[in-house]
Amino acid sequence: MDLGLTDRHALVLGATGGLGRAVATTLLAEGASVTFAGRDAGKLDAILAELPAGMREQADSVVADLGDPDAPGLLAAGARARTGKVDILVNNSGGPPPGPPSTVSAEEMQAQYGRMVTPLIALTLDLVGPMRAQGWGRILTISSSGVIQPIPHLPVSNALRMSLLGFMKTLAAEVASDGVTVNLVAPGRILTDRVRTLDAAAAERAGKSLEEVQAASTGMIPAGRFGSPEEFGAVAAFLASVHASYVTGSTLRVDGGMIRSV
Ligand SMILES: NC(=O)c1ccc[n+]([C@@H]2O[C@H](COP(=O)([O-])OP(=O)(O)OC[C@H]3O[C@@H](n4cnc5c(N)ncnc54)[C@H](OP(=O)(O)O)[C@@H]3O)[C@@H](O)[C@H]2O)c1
Repeated sequence: MDLGLTDRHALVLGATGGLGRAVATTLLAEGASVTFAGRDAGKLDAILAELPAGMREQADSVVADLGDPDAPGLLAAGARARTGKVDILVNNSGGPPPGPPSTVSAEEMQAQYGRMVTPLIALTLDLVGPMRAQGWGRILTISSSGVIQPIPHLPVSNALRMSLLGFMKTLAAEVASDGVTVNLVAPGRILTDRVRTLDAAAAERAGKSLEEVQAASTGMIPAGRFGSPEEFGAVAAFLASVHASYVTGSTLRVDGGMIRSV
């Protein structure tokens, strides 16, 4: 299927990591040009250098730490440098540390809000105007199964991703008639560094091996395994495509059936 992404330019945040990198690479493979965003210039250079010829020329990068108040402006300017426009925005950030809800401090909550919510909303607001004016745009936000079924031991993640969901859902209705779709993609357990780190922490808490924790986790997934970043990237690319023009305000699960509620 031709996703209709040729001549479209995408900005993907967190593109040095598992999900963001997979989405960026899939969009590239489907014909879009892509700005990879991350906070580590060395990692970005290495990732771009690994791209096969043909894709490498269609990719560039921008460095910004989402905790920096200037990040939204830097990201928008960096992405526009190539074609003067951004047709597809993929919002993404690092995840907060795990811990019991009763130990979360107001300071930590506020600091994480400044990394996970405020900059993504500011960037979205900067880019959505031109998308509406040109009559086409795609705004995707990498979220979590925790917005449907809160995940134990991830209170900050559960709380802040709900906040982002509320904003994006409200925005979706305002811009739908201008050809701009706004959707969330909710990973269940996709095997990335983040999931490995969380499972290692869970193993230490429970005094179990990493393998035991991973086996218990896959036992709760009807598909019987973790997902791959490539499987996640393919779903995100579909939502960015011409074919998903009537899908907006949705949260699409990529979870192997893990979330049991309808
Ligand atoms: N994988 C899953 O199954 C799953 C499930 C639920 C939710 N999620 C959430 O989905 C998001 C992506 O997941 P992932 O598994 O791909 O995580 P990951 O492997 O940890 O990658 C996170 C990405 O965000 C970047 N990042 C972190 N802090 C940043 C900052 N302050 N400024 C700019 N970039 C920053 C990282 O860059 P560096 O390389 O510089 O660290 C990396 O590119 C995370 O928020 C995660 O919590 C993932």
